[in-house]
Amino acid sequence: MNTKIALNTKTVLNTKEIFAAPDGAVYEVQIARGDKLNALTDAMYGSLIEQLKYAEASEDIKVIFLRSDNKHFCAGNDLADFLETEFNQASNVVQFLVTMARLTKPIVCAVGGAAVGIGATMLLHCDLVYACDDTKFSVPFIKLGLTPEGGSSKLLAQRCGPAKANDWLFTGRTFLAQEASDAGLVNGTFADTETTWSEARKIAQNLAKNSSRVLKETKALLKADQIENVVELMKKEAVIFAEGLATEESKAAFKAFLNR
Ligand code: COA
Repeated sequence: MNTKIALNTKTVLNTKEIFAAPDGAVYEVQIARGDKLNALTDAMYGSLIEQLKYAEASEDIKVIFLRSDNKHFCAGNDLADFLETEFNQASNVVQFLVTMARLTKPIVCAVGGAAVGIGATMLLHCDLVYACDDTKFSVPFIKLGLTPEGGSSKLLAQRCGPAKANDWLFTGRTFLAQEASDAGLVNGTFADTETTWSEARKIAQNLAKNSSRVLKETKALLKADQIENVVELMKKEAVIFAEGLATEESKAAFKAFLNR
């Protein structure tokens, strides 16, 4: 079967809040909901999945570059959406994370401003991550009556060590780009948003100078044996997460934020 997708189909995939375009062999995907700090809704996860699957299937694309179109990267799941949308293992948010985890092509990510909740945990599925110095990270699930998601219950400790993972997940505190970099959550930091985007883009373009074969084989050697375990873990996390979402504790935390 010919898996090549005509590049002109990309316009069909673009929405106001999630859009993408190829830049040579790099597929640049942007989150564009600056008024809500790029908090992600069920529909936005659906669009992200489509864009990622398009990039994965296209023979013209070697590398994916993910960023936002404004100073914030992502303030996590939209908390109003959590109150309105049913959540389970089949939800777009879980499928988005599974899609990220199963990508065979490298994904480079540039972050800044808020990188909260899934805005931080999705980075665990990226191959290279660059952060603006102003980035404020947090995995504040515990403060919302929720539990770790996106594989973070294991992947965060794997990447940054158990001491950091326990600290960040048990306190839900905010930490800055320098701490994230020192702990290995990000590969490097830059002084401002524009530089972060342009340097990360350069890195993605340099990666794309390699053959598709060598990029895929390298990623497979680094990750492939863990992928299905990570997917299973994320499904388990999603069951516990769904139980949390159904509690009054969690709903009250969302309402408190939304009614500030
Ligand atoms: N869901 C829905 N709306 C969100 C949001 C989210 N996760 N994060 C931010 N927003 C909205 C705010 O409601 C506000 O909308 P409004 O202008 O219509 O009132 C807008 O984005 C700006 O956010 P604000 O809180 O005013 O910005 P801030 O700079 O003071 O604070 C944060 C930044 C990231 C600390 C704060 O927005 C926050 O804590 N957000 C929630 C993060 C979260 O808990 N995510 C879910 C994790 S599971």
